[in-house]
Amino acid sequence: MIRSEVIGNWKMNLDHVEGIHLTQQIGVLLRANPHDHVDVVLAPPAIDLRSVSSVVEADRLPLLLAGQHVSEFDRGAYTGEISVSMYKRLGVTSILVGHSERRAFFAMTDEVVAATALTVLRGGLRPVICVGESAEVRSAEQHEEFVAEQVAIATATIGQQNFALAYEPVWAIGTGETASVEQVARMAAVIREALPETARATTPILYGGSVKPENAHELASGGNVNGFLVGGASLVAEQFVEIVSTASDCYGRSR
Ligand code: 13P
Repeated sequence: MIRSEVIGNWKMNLDHVEGIHLTQQIGVLLRANPHDHVDVVLAPPAIDLRSVSSVVEADRLPLLLAGQHVSEFDRGAYTGEISVSMYKRLGVTSILVGHSERRAFFAMTDEVVAATALTVLRGGLRPVICVGESAEVRSAEQHEEFVAEQVAIATATIGQQNFALAYEPVWAIGTGETASVEQVARMAAVIREALPETARATTPILYGGSVKPENAHELASGGNVNGFLVGGASLVAEQFVEIVSTASDCYGRSR
């Protein structure tokens, strides 16, 4: 049985003071809204993590922490980079690897994604490997091969260890254009098929791309995924917690 989860990726939004406020707001709302069937994970900017983790600890909030990006190297002369062990020391349990914004704006190749995921695993944390096609790839009807290849390159390096996948079609990120339930369900099946056989039953597959309170129910109940990676809506406590409790309700029913 795969445990479902909802991850809020704040991207490069909110400084640590704003991050403290949002975490507190989310904490208050989580107490009032059922969320037993999902893990709730925050992925703030790295520089906010110390403050956010202090709030989580002090208020005993039911929140896990994730990093947005990490160096593929363990330590050393890599100015500006952050290592897995640094995240680990702050109580982070998962790290996003290969988000499409890292791939597009910072030239992160499939090979670097795979190497980074391996570094995360060696450091004892869980990579959430992000995959997804651009609009051009989809209109050329190459999306299934493209995403299956992204999955295959990553898993050829890391094997069947403890990781999650996030399907985030680039054309659906921050655009308000969500992939349809059918598109999500189909790609989830393609991704599962591309996984090593032994990892198929245990690897969570998340969907990300304009997930909102309005579409969370449909996607959670029909999308064939184990949760969401939420961008914009994770910056608004009410919206994020509504997505969380909707997902929890759907996943609770389907058990
Ligand atoms: P949006 O929810 O803003 O489309 O972002 C999705 C995303 O990239 C999460 O990692």
